[in-house]
Amino acid sequence: MDSQTTYNYKVVRQFTVMTVVWGIVGMLVGVFIAAELVWPQLNMDIPWITFSRLRPLHTNAVIFAFGGSALFATSYYVVQRTCQTRLISDGLAAFTFWGWQLIIVLAAITLPLGITSSREYAELEWPIDILIAVVWVSYAIVFFGTIMKRRVSHIYVANWFFGAFILTIAVLHIVNNIEVPVSLTKSYSVYPGAIDAMVQWWYGHNAVGFFLTAGFLGMMYYFVPKQAGRPVYSYRLSVVHFWALISTYMWAGPHHLHYTALPVWAQSLGMVFSLILLAPSWGGMINGIMTLSGAWHKLRDDPILKFLITSLSFYGMSTFEGPMMAIKTVNALSHYTDWTIGHVHSGALGWVAMVTIGSVYFLIPKLFGREQMYSVRLIDWHFWMATVGVVLYIVSMWISGIMQGLMWRAVNDDGTLTYSFIETVQAMHPFYFVRFLGGALFLAGMLVMVWNVIKTISGARPVDAPVPQTA
Ligand code: HEM
Ligand code: HEM
Repeated sequence: MDSQTTYNYKVVRQFTVMTVVWGIVGMLVGVFIAAELVWPQLNMDIPWITFSRLRPLHTNAVIFAFGGSALFATSYYVVQRTCQTRLISDGLAAFTFWGWQLIIVLAAITLPLGITSSREYAELEWPIDILIAVVWVSYAIVFFGTIMKRRVSHIYVANWFFGAFILTIAVLHIVNNIEVPVSLTKSYSVYPGAIDAMVQWWYGHNAVGFFLTAGFLGMMYYFVPKQAGRPVYSYRLSVVHFWALISTYMWAGPHHLHYTALPVWAQSLGMVFSLILLAPSWGGMINGIMTLSGAWHKLRDDPILKFLITSLSFYGMSTFEGPMMAIKTVNALSHYTDWTIGHVHSGALGWVAMVTIGSVYFLIPKLFGREQMYSVRLIDWHFWMATVGVVLYIVSMWISGIMQGLMWRAVNDDGTLTYSFIETVQAMHPFYFVRFLGGALFLAGMLVMVWNVIKTISGARPVDAPVPQTA
């Protein structure tokens, strides 16, 4: 078949396989830094593997390498299938694949060396930032170009979410990284003081809202109905969900800066918008879960669906917890504590990783011409390992975080602090061990996935499905 009559599955295959690879790498680093917090001597006094250098490597690897590859793979797949047309340019799509992998490798080299702009989730230095901008604009051209040459008039809602994610990340990345280079490896932000902090957390929170949420909602809106074999519960709700979510997220960033030099009105605005955000978030969750109504029995023996639906439950949990933590009085307790880390991972592992894993299990057989994954039983094993792993992780962090916050604020009758700082660190130690166990279990589940993927694709022939000719 010539290239115009088939979908471009090659780039989807490449990104899908790299999702699994980077998932393992990023989570391995996560487990290692979790272990360092239990046994600090593990850094062996080698600067490159200290917690401080590997932590940003972990966040960059899981968010941008693992999450990013998953988003490229699924958006390229979904946009082609729902627009019934091949990607607009194979060459540009291949460029986004190799460009993104190069960026990841550069991050993996520079971050352990301590080369960083010190902006959380935007640590990479200016030459890499420029490369990211070029790859991202190419991604936008491939995605929106494909939408423009679609052969159906309707634009399916998943594409709205992917589109918003692509556009917003371009704006966030460029604005947050306007900096003055002083050498090839060092630059300084152009923004002064509190404005700098505000721009950074406008970026940071929308990285959560658009990279870790909107894009994955796009994934959810395609793969949940597909796997469940049912239409989306309410298409109208999905459109309301889309507009409500994207117009609210932008304003919530200041909840990261409560009780700082940021004007109080801006902090309160961030708090109020975070509370409002509960509604569209839950609208989306309900829409996803209710897609299964009338077909609940499928959950019993379809582990891919278990991954997808459980991810939505964690999405609901973390988007309930987030608005609560945004309330200033609650944040006074939770900020700087492990509670935040628990919240992050209920979103990151429970939602982002699980919806990705479900989608990858859906995709792999289709991309390699197999009926289904090599072993459905192993998917079920993976599901339980992942679920128990997340629960161990977040519950230990909740206990440790709330305890930490309460110990810090405890005062004696004479006004002196009840606990010294080191006492709080000692109290957290057992919970760090439980978090390490939870993380290791989640990682072990990923290794089960690798085995299952290898067995599914070995000896298989990559396939490119035909584009329907009757639209
Ligand atoms: C309605 C939705 C949400 C709201 C209102 C919200 C709110 C919050 C709040 C108040 C904090 C603590 C800020 C601080 O004290 O420093 C926080 C931290 C964080 N949240 Fe959420 N959250 C939401 C959903 C999510 C989801 C779904 C994810 C992940 C997929 C996520 C990822 C994060 C991350 C990574 C941080 C840590 C940022 C940092 O300090 O580095 N959030 N969120
Ligand atoms: C095996 C799985 C994982 C383990 C063991 C793990 C472990 C860790 C540890 C130990 C930290 C540092 C916590 C601290 O500073 O006290 C961390 C931070 C973080 N991790 Fe993970 N992680 C895992 C998976 C993930 C995934 C899949 C994502 C995203 C998709 C993620 C996103 C983050 C983020 C955003 C932070 C920074 C949080 C903040 O600054 O508040 N992690 N992780």
